[in-house]
Amino acid sequence: MLTSVAEPLLDIADVHSGYGKIVVLHGVTMHIKPGEVVALLGPNGAGKSTLLRTISGLIACSAGSMRFSGESLGGLGPRGTVQRGLAHIIEGHRIFTQQTVYDNLLLAGYDVPRSERKARVEEALTYFPEIAAKRNDAGSTLSGGQQQMLAVAQGLVQKPKLLMLDEPSAGLSPVLVDRVLAVVDQLRVAGTAVLLVEQLIEKALSVSDRVYALAQGRVVLEQPANLPDLPRLLERAYLDQN
Ligand SMILES: Nc1ncnc2c1ncn2[C@@H]1O[C@H](COP(=O)(O)OP(=O)(O)OP(=O)(O)O)[C@@H](O)[C@H]1O
Ligand SMILES: [Mg+2]
Repeated sequence: MLTSVAEPLLDIADVHSGYGKIVVLHGVTMHIKPGEVVALLGPNGAGKSTLLRTISGLIACSAGSMRFSGESLGGLGPRGTVQRGLAHIIEGHRIFTQQTVYDNLLLAGYDVPRSERKARVEEALTYFPEIAAKRNDAGSTLSGGQQQMLAVAQGLVQKPKLLMLDEPSAGLSPVLVDRVLAVVDQLRVAGTAVLLVEQLIEKALSVSDRVYALAQGRVVLEQPANLPDLPRLLERAYLDQN
């Protein structure tokens, strides 16, 4: 089905989810337009990773609705969401250290038609010249930062419409954080939407169009990323929850 330009790429409403009897998300509503970069901020334990897991089908949505590209995500599961153009790089994602960089990327493209797989790998590598140069080396030879880049590149092999990144810069030096976020900026230019979970607020805002903040499983703020005074508004939104 064709979607009009005005229609959001991701449109979720009143989403509830959690783990067993523990409810973590208490009715989250959010949308992302095609090609938009959206930051998802919030304190530890707010439910950011849980929201990404729910969208990508790793955990079930117990109530509410989730639509992607005009289609319901309900019950699709992680493979179904990937096939529809939704890539999720999970928090603390690990690469296969025994495999080469190239094979790590081929493995990430398991659902891509065989005839297209190599071209997709090459396309993903264009974003990261520093790992392209090490394509035949084992993953274990990469620095921590390069491993993070490889994890992001694995998402790009799927050529997603929406790439969800859960703290891609965790543990990286400031220079490498900038490097990873520069790729997010490039993706926006290329028309790929990104949902970015990030602890470094200022850095996240600098590459984002809009921002949502979660606290205790609820959206407590939704604003354009260039709103003056946003860091102070965020702080107040978190405090008001307590
Ligand atoms: N596998 C799990 N089983 C049970 N509870 C969980 C599980 N994973 C997370 N939780 C709980 O769900 C809540 C939200 O966790 P979540 O990991 O989504 O937060 P977060 O916003 O991503 O935090 P952080 O910034 O630390 O990554 C927390 O109370 C956490 O303890
Ligand atoms: Mg998390």
